[in-house]
Amino acid sequence: MTTTSEMLALFLEENFQEFLQSWRDRVVIAENDKYIEEVMKNGLQMFELVKRAIRNPLSDDEIKVLAQKVAQERVEANTNISEFVFNVNAGRSEIIKWVGSSGIRIEDLRPYLEEINGVFDRFSYYAVRFYTEIKEQQLKEKVNYIDQTHKERLTILGQMSSSFVHEFRNPLTSIIGFTKLLKYDYPELPYLDVMSHELDQLNYRISQFLHVSRKEIIESKKEKFLVFSLLGELIEFLYPSLVDGDVQVKSHLDSQVYIKGNKEELRQVFLNLIMNSIDALQQVKGNRKITISCTFENDEIHIKVANNGPEISAETVEAIFEPFYTTKELGTGIGLYICRKLVEKHEGSIVCTSSPEETAFTVTIPAAKEEQKTGMLL
Ligand SMILES: Nc1ncnc2c1ncn2[C@@H]1O[C@H](COP(=O)(O)OP(=O)(O)OP(=O)(O)O)[C@@H](O)[C@H]1O
Ligand SMILES: [Mg+2]
Repeated sequence: MTTTSEMLALFLEENFQEFLQSWRDRVVIAENDKYIEEVMKNGLQMFELVKRAIRNPLSDDEIKVLAQKVAQERVEANTNISEFVFNVNAGRSEIIKWVGSSGIRIEDLRPYLEEINGVFDRFSYYAVRFYTEIKEQQLKEKVNYIDQTHKERLTILGQMSSSFVHEFRNPLTSIIGFTKLLKYDYPELPYLDVMSHELDQLNYRISQFLHVSRKEIIESKKEKFLVFSLLGELIEFLYPSLVDGDVQVKSHLDSQVYIKGNKEELRQVFLNLIMNSIDALQQVKGNRKITISCTFENDEIHIKVANNGPEISAETVEAIFEPFYTTKELGTGIGLYICRKLVEKHEGSIVCTSSPEETAFTVTIPAAKEEQKTGMLL
């Protein structure tokens, strides 16, 4: 006597051609899908799996093999996974329809219907899972590739700019020297101060590039100096730009706080911060203010450069420290990137906070306690 499962499997085999035709009529597939033939073959394999499941429950491993193959093909065909899900469901409903017309009593069919549904559910689950995994992997590889080529370009750019900088620096140094000599020989000659100042600005700009290219290679020389004098000198240096930009500077500096670090590098940091503030303040009308303060707390020195200019949105706050992020027509976008690198080189940190009233950059640098004490005694 044949069992229900055998009867059902035989019934499906006998009507196999018609079943396949009605499934094919429903399948959604692009004409240019390079796996169009495989889709039909996969349908057949799925049909085989269903027949086997009716005779003997299937293990996950048996289903996974086909799911893996289909997932790979769907990725390579570069189609949307929704077509695949639609076609699987079309196959499921066709089979259920055919099984229902087998003449076998519905009570006897029930466990087999469950088994068939189970095969389809597991197949869809694994195929979509593998498909997503492959896609994610591809995306990761793409991002890695982009990162890598971007890094390589940055390296080349760095090498180019550092040799470029050297070529520039030598003639610049001699022009600065000769301007000083001229001033010495002809103290009354007009425009020399303006020229000297502009040349110094140019020199700072160029040094900025040098900081990027050599930062890790050369261990910078550290010395102990007063924060007060560094910032005082900078404000004096920037005086023409402050007047030009119509900006007032207020500084609250403890005249006794010493810092140990590379003066050149820290000068570059605060120069960038103050220059950025002057630039940002050009967007406001009147009452342009920069406030510089310095505090010494818990063995740390906090130097804050704040201005009452435009607010930087929370999403942009991190981006501004990335290289080449700029909103300025002639900006290079490396100012804050260098600031962060140089501050980190001093084992410190730099944080930006911004509100409609105030945008501030706070540099925190650790200071050894005894150094402050000896400093104070000097
Ligand atoms: N004080 C500030 N207020 C508002 N926005 C600022 C301020 N400082 C920096 N930014 C924003 O951060 C961006 C990046 O600053 P960064 O100093 O890195 O580059 P840049 O000033 O644009 O160019 P570069 O300094 O290389 O000439 C600026 O273009 C600006 O949009
Ligand atoms: Mg800048």
